[in-house]
Amino acid sequence: MNILHNRKKYRLALVTSAIVLLAGCSSLAAPGQPETSTPETPSVQPETSPPAETKPTEPNQSEAEPVKEKPAEQEKPAETKPPKQEPVNKPSDSIELPDLAVVAEPQSMTVLVNKQQKLPENYTPNDLVFPNVPFLLPEKSEKRKMRKEAAEALQQLFAAAKTDGVSLAGVSAYRSHAYQKALFNRYVQKDGLEKARTYSAIPGTSEHETGLSIDVSGINGKCAAESCFGGTKEAEWLAQHSAEFGYIIRYPEGKDGITGYMYEPWHIRYVGVDVAKEISEKGITLEEYFGAVPVTAESN
Ligand code: DAL
Ligand code: ZN
Repeated sequence: MNILHNRKKYRLALVTSAIVLLAGCSSLAAPGQPETSTPETPSVQPETSPPAETKPTEPNQSEAEPVKEKPAEQEKPAETKPPKQEPVNKPSDSIELPDLAVVAEPQSMTVLVNKQQKLPENYTPNDLVFPNVPFLLPEKSEKRKMRKEAAEALQQLFAAAKTDGVSLAGVSAYRSHAYQKALFNRYVQKDGLEKARTYSAIPGTSEHETGLSIDVSGINGKCAAESCFGGTKEAEWLAQHSAEFGYIIRYPEGKDGITGYMYEPWHIRYVGVDVAKEISEKGITLEEYFGAVPVTAESN
């Protein structure tokens, strides 16, 4: 998608979107759609489709997202409350994208991509490789790929976890711009723009497009990219040890006002060991590390 080309349309729509829904970010809805199994696929697959009445059209059957990073159904409003406003269910081509800065060094291991800073158009990492770790994805899926340095660190992380008795699996790593667009559109169709933006990034602003992030689950795929992953031994291990391998929990609990996203205990981001350790020890986000303005203060 040509984001810049569509900026005016995006801007127009955002003006109509007065409130960004960040409430209710700590819970998730039904799990998503897993891809087909592979020899490395865990014995127990993650649960499958969301309720039929809410299941959106797959953007691309061969590249269907294995799970959905999405919040649970919002708490039903009390009967005395006014009815909820109808969501804006538009595909991302017609959704407003605020004027965002373009990151100067997209190849940097510490690149900050968020609701204020986007990747250059047509950016594709030039050193994507397949990390040799188990995935809940088909063997050849592009979504297994990561930048080389991140992939090597991931292999060490998975090996260390296994030594500690924690068997991990990759859920979703690199996403092309086209894939992120299809995925985001699907969520907008299902939940509306404002809600979708609390758990899914507008194309061009997803860390998954950098090749430096990956969603991780336990080897059995249970609670993959769902809120119930929080508190599992795998999530605890990731929180405690990711920094040793240069990864951070990118969207920590209680930091959605800064990161712009709900808590995602499964989404780890490679930034290099030194930066990861500092961020982990200080209990801060990548935004805070760089002294960036909290995303909700401006263009959430
Ligand atoms: N779920 C994260 C925010 C993404 O879509 O990149
Ligand atoms: Zn993620």
